[in-house]
Amino acid sequence: MEDLAHSTCSLVRFVSTKPNIVTKNDGKRYSGSTVALYFTLGLFLGTSIITYKLAKNPPEFLFPHSSTTKLAEISSPRYGDPDKVVKELKNVLSADQIRSTKETLETHSDSSFSTHHATPDQRPVAVIFPNSTEEVSLVLKACHKYKVPVVPYTGGTSLEGHYTPTRKGISVDLSRMNKVLAVHAEDLDVTVQAAVGWQTLANYLKSYNLMFGPDPGPGACIGGMVGTSCSGTNAARWGTMKENVVSLTVVLADGTIIKTKNRPRKSAAGYNLNGLFIGSEGTLGIVTEATLKLNVKPKYENVAVISFPTISDASSTVAQFVQHGIQLDAMELLDDKMMKYVNVSGQTTLKYDEAPTLMLKIGGTTKEAVKSQINDVKRISKENHQNSFRFASSDAEREELWNARKVALWSTINYGQEYIDKDIQVWATDVAVPISKLCECLTTTKNEMNETGVAGAIVGHVGDGNYHAMILFKREDRPKVERIVRHMVDGALKAEGTVTGEHGVGMGKRGFLKQELPPDAIDLMRKIKFALDPYRILNPDKVFSIDPKDKGE
Ligand SMILES: Cc1cc2nc3c(=O)[nH]c(=O)nc-3n(C[C@H](O)[C@H](O)[C@H](O)COP(=O)(O)OP(=O)(O)OC[C@H]3O[C@@H](n4cnc5c(N)ncnc54)[C@H](O)[C@@H]3O)c2cc1C
Ligand SMILES: *[C@@H]1O[C@H](CO)[C@@H](O)[C@H](O)[C@H]1NC(C)=O
Ligand SMILES: *[C@@H]1O[C@H](CO)[C@@H](O)[C@H](O)[C@H]1NC(C)=O
Ligand SMILES: *[C@@H]1O[C@H](CO)[C@@H](O)[C@H](O)[C@H]1NC(C)=O
Repeated sequence: MEDLAHSTCSLVRFVSTKPNIVTKNDGKRYSGSTVALYFTLGLFLGTSIITYKLAKNPPEFLFPHSSTTKLAEISSPRYGDPDKVVKELKNVLSADQIRSTKETLETHSDSSFSTHHATPDQRPVAVIFPNSTEEVSLVLKACHKYKVPVVPYTGGTSLEGHYTPTRKGISVDLSRMNKVLAVHAEDLDVTVQAAVGWQTLANYLKSYNLMFGPDPGPGACIGGMVGTSCSGTNAARWGTMKENVVSLTVVLADGTIIKTKNRPRKSAAGYNLNGLFIGSEGTLGIVTEATLKLNVKPKYENVAVISFPTISDASSTVAQFVQHGIQLDAMELLDDKMMKYVNVSGQTTLKYDEAPTLMLKIGGTTKEAVKSQINDVKRISKENHQNSFRFASSDAEREELWNARKVALWSTINYGQEYIDKDIQVWATDVAVPISKLCECLTTTKNEMNETGVAGAIVGHVGDGNYHAMILFKREDRPKVERIVRHMVDGALKAEGTVTGEHGVGMGKRGFLKQELPPDAIDLMRKIKFALDPYRILNPDKVFSIDPKDKGE
């Protein structure tokens, strides 16, 4: 497909001058030279074709008559000069809202813990810090006008190169839009701006005795959490981002501001626009506000720590909890290596067995309900050869345990730096499989890590069949790690699973996405992308390729 603005403009110019030329030549039609005749004939043919094309409704060059957009059918995007956008924005924003120090550009391109790294030239020209939805709209209007790539950014904790600027453009950091706008405690919902972090929100909701489900990486914010459709330790019980959004305010590629829904918990009013933006990784619009579903905190909740002789005992236990319909509030698995890293990191005051361990949240509205669940949990754990079973003895210990789980990646990296190599690299990746296949899949990954001789841990939000490998490696061993990850993904697909349960696709998993979905499904995503963002300016090259010349997979 041709660059749209370009073709539209030249066409309009041509059509609008047509009547003059035809009239001018009309009188000379039979008396002039052969050249004039051919010229007129040519002109006639040309205009007829264009008239014919315009008569088709909609014109074919704008909307190919197919339901999908294949990579082979399109041409490379042509982008404009980001400096023009920056210059224009300097007129409407204040100086402190446009930053281009080396450090700012670097933190908005990559992180040490990402699996996919930016090349040294993959940097934004500037980072813009809007104060409001209207300012985000101004930024996008300017980017649309000059066809300049634009990458949204909130917490910067995503792991697959999600916010790496692959094209010369700008980044939009929403960190100034960090306010909780309204809590409707009686309706169990809250409206927030995009840069409210899930931890900030959790603290804010404490006094209401309410909680928001999704809890991804420390530092992550609602905008990016919508972007990656994240989940976390609470998902098996309270759902992922997809189940927890009531409505969104989104700025579209050309600066149009939309709201997807009103505030009721359910609605059958038209398309599910929330679903369109959740998990779109900043490729379809910039989320500026969100109304989120809240849950009442369980009145009684215990945290149990159960260790097992083998990881397959631990994962079979989880599968049986699920198969028996035992509704736990969280089910986290940490392998022996992870327990060692947690232990060594000093994140917890108590030291734990360095053995495969389940951390469970067992909660309910009555003491009896919790007690009956605890009995079930104990019975099933025993049947699966548990080593030890203990409860967190205080609120402080519960917090500490859950925190240790949240910072598992940092503990792993610290261990690697201290005991393996100062320049240790980390690869943190996830897949999800049907629960009955969990045990086999994660044991295979663990064994392959061991046989390859690389260090690292397996952890998982195993209640929904989701497990992570955090692999530590020296730079020269990267190919070995790539092989392990490839096998982990292949294994998940063979088990009818997904190439990513919660981290998303970004740059790192685009190739794998093609393994999971039929080509037509990805071509449909591309069609949607082109319909909403015809100049391909919003976070280009993420999720799937938008450029036939792109060799990035
Ligand atoms: C230690 C650690 C633990 C983690 N644990 C989990 C976990 O348990 N579960 C889980 O799901 N993930 C986990 N993650 C991954 C990460 O935290 C999530 O992907 C999170 O949702 C990213 O949010 P963010 O604010 O950091 O987004 P960013 O990294 O800033 O952005 C993520 C994506 O969303 C886009 N985006 C950002 N802001 C907007 C916006 N306003 N509108 C539209 N698009 C936007 C970006 O362009 C990018 O594509 C973990 C990461 C770390 C480092
Ligand atoms: C945005 O907010 C900052 C900080 O409050 C302020 O300095 C700046 O002037 C605001 N920008 C505009 C365009 O009003
Ligand atoms: C835990 O870590 C400490 C050091 O912090 C170490 O001495 C101990 O052997 C580790 N293992 C166990 C099971 O406590
Ligand atoms: C692999 O497993 C064996 C047996 O449990 C263990 O002795 C060895 O240290 C492991 N290797 C690595 C690299 O972890």
